[in-house]
Amino acid sequence: MSALLVLNGPNLNLLGQRQPEVYGHTTLAEIEALCAATADKLGATTSCLQSNHEGTLIDAIHDARGKFDGIILNAGAYTHTSIALMDAISSAEVPMVEVHLSNIHAREEFRHTSHISRVAIGQICGFGPHGYVLAIKAMLEHLKAQT
Ligand code: DQA
Repeated sequence: MSALLVLNGPNLNLLGQRQPEVYGHTTLAEIEALCAATADKLGATTSCLQSNHEGTLIDAIHDARGKFDGIILNAGAYTHTSIALMDAISSAEVPMVEVHLSNIHAREEFRHTSHISRVAIGQICGFGPHGYVLAIKAMLEHLKAQT
């Protein structure tokens, strides 16, 4: 059974209240429940963590090594700025799928760059909460193809 870590970065704790015109009305707790239900249906498990702190996210990625088979990562704004998060993913050697609720490529220019993408299996963006479902499915297909 594959164990997945669903990691959400800064400001995503405010989902549901934060810019609903961009991010919708679904709360983080609802997204985490959706992830758990999706994984359960597909014979996998999820553990969820959200942090507003870069170091905490890095520690969680390091700790994932040997514990989780894959990481679903929405790094929020750190996506566009954090080489440290990118390096953490490379160091942990746990496959990662990048997810964003919004279509970052259709937004401000500074959101078009993702440092995370360089070390991701792939990126899913623009599908709102359903993006997490797609990311879990993509990760499980990826893991299956490795065995
Ligand atoms: C986001 C997109 C980022 O640009 C932004 O900083 C976020 C959320 C998304 O899910 O669409 O915090 O990662």
